[in-house]
Amino acid sequence: MEIRTVVSQPAKFSVSALLILAYEDENDRFDPWVKDLDKSIRSELSRLEKLNSIRGKFKEQTLFHPDSDEIDHVIVVGVGKRNEFSLDKLRSAVAAASQVARKLSASGLGVPLGKFLSLPSEAGAAAAVEGAILGLYQFKKYKNAKSDEDNHQDFPRMLGLIGGDKQDAARLEKGCDRGKILGESNIFVRDLVNEPSNVMTPTAFAHEAEAAAKKFGLEIKVIEKREMEKLGMGGILGVARGSHQPPKLLLLKYKGGSGKSFSLGLVGKGVTFDSGGISIKPSENMHHMTGDMAGAAACLGAMIAIARLKIPINLITLLPLAENLPGGNAYKPGDIVKIFNGKTVEIINTDAEGRMLLADALSYMQTMPVDAVVDLATLTGGIVVALGAAATGLFSTDEGLTSALLKAGEASEEMLWRMPLLPMYTKMVKGQFADLKNSAGRFAAACTAAAFLKEFAGEKPWAHLDIAATAHLDSPLSSEEHLYLPKYGATGAGVRILTVLAERLSEKGSLS
Ligand code: BES
Ligand code: MN
Ligand code: ZN
Repeated sequence: MEIRTVVSQPAKFSVSALLILAYEDENDRFDPWVKDLDKSIRSELSRLEKLNSIRGKFKEQTLFHPDSDEIDHVIVVGVGKRNEFSLDKLRSAVAAASQVARKLSASGLGVPLGKFLSLPSEAGAAAAVEGAILGLYQFKKYKNAKSDEDNHQDFPRMLGLIGGDKQDAARLEKGCDRGKILGESNIFVRDLVNEPSNVMTPTAFAHEAEAAAKKFGLEIKVIEKREMEKLGMGGILGVARGSHQPPKLLLLKYKGGSGKSFSLGLVGKGVTFDSGGISIKPSENMHHMTGDMAGAAACLGAMIAIARLKIPINLITLLPLAENLPGGNAYKPGDIVKIFNGKTVEIINTDAEGRMLLADALSYMQTMPVDAVVDLATLTGGIVVALGAAATGLFSTDEGLTSALLKAGEASEEMLWRMPLLPMYTKMVKGQFADLKNSAGRFAAACTAAAFLKEFAGEKPWAHLDIAATAHLDSPLSSEEHLYLPKYGATGAGVRILTVLAERLSEKGSLS
């Protein structure tokens, strides 16, 4: 899809489909420019409004084909009340309109922004472009059958960002670049997560990361099994034992700043398939566990976005990758393994494998020159029960990092909800024969998992994001609130929030 910035009155811009936002305010239904357009199309809009076809309710869509030389289709998308209008609503509206444009095989979609909208021009353009890229995303590479829908895949071929003057155009241009980078980085993550696990093995993931690192100027080192053995990473090695796929530990670096710039550590859980191991999962929803490397994918996607945006920050990222299977050599309940930092862990449940990978990676991260560490993991079913897909669970002992993350969550409209790290959870993960045990059972499962990780996170500010429910959707609920999310499959969660966090930390230079 080509993205073009144009200076024009929306009514005079010749385009196959034009997006109009409708607000849920009876006396203030449209933005002011819409009056001119309405005049030029024999007041068709006013007529539809009088007929109650357009009320501006969020998600409402009204399509008509005006008698106009310039425009074939007008796509009216409701965005709710004006005082609740936001960049996220715009992102949603453009996603919805792009989908309609695709169905119509419309060659181009025009989106009035800048002066024509009550949002900041640059951020508005970014949200619009991101909305189009995310809204049009489909994971179809394994489908042969050419259904009717498939034939429209190339449409819309052009997204036109319409501004009112030169100043607008410059801002839209800048926002467009940002939206493209955020959108493309997000769908890079979606593709990795949606790939089945017979394709996306730890080795394949490492190759993808190497290719991305080369393309976007990141340093990468693949730490192989041999070296993990030397380093004493009993967690990753333990989990990987049941599979023929060798584990990998990726160490990536982005040097966007100077020696004095903020240095952020990222850790992402990369279980390419989680069968549960010897503590095998029920088969019913097991196929979703191809997405259990979404944390690792999100960290990689965010690094790409941050590098492409040239944010002046330093990043050090560790991505432990393994497959959790119940092979003849698999680690077993009752086994005791030793983590990189010397702590021992009694395996109660081989399905609590994510924390075993993260234990090694988090403690290895402590040997790196970072100012704070954030880990992302599809860690527990407990967080799915607690928060659903409405928010990512945030656990942290550091108030500065917590507040930075919550603010980044608000700004990026990727919702976080803070969860507790109470002393009792730490007691609950004490081991009987080893320092720790890897499962404390059903009660407060997301919290005890976080308390376990805390034992390996060291003294530096650390936060853990449990994205088990937000990274991969199997109920369409979230996609009804954020129309740019897919109904099923990977969402790319984490990319926007980590990018915004990096931007803010690079500006402030510290957490305080
Ligand atoms: N990968 C799962 C968590 C998960 C569940 C992710 C649902 C996405 C959707 C994790 O490895 C796991 O199995 N966790 C167990 C831990 C338990 C055995 C202590 C859980 O939460 O049930
Ligand atoms: Mn598991
Ligand atoms: Zn898992």
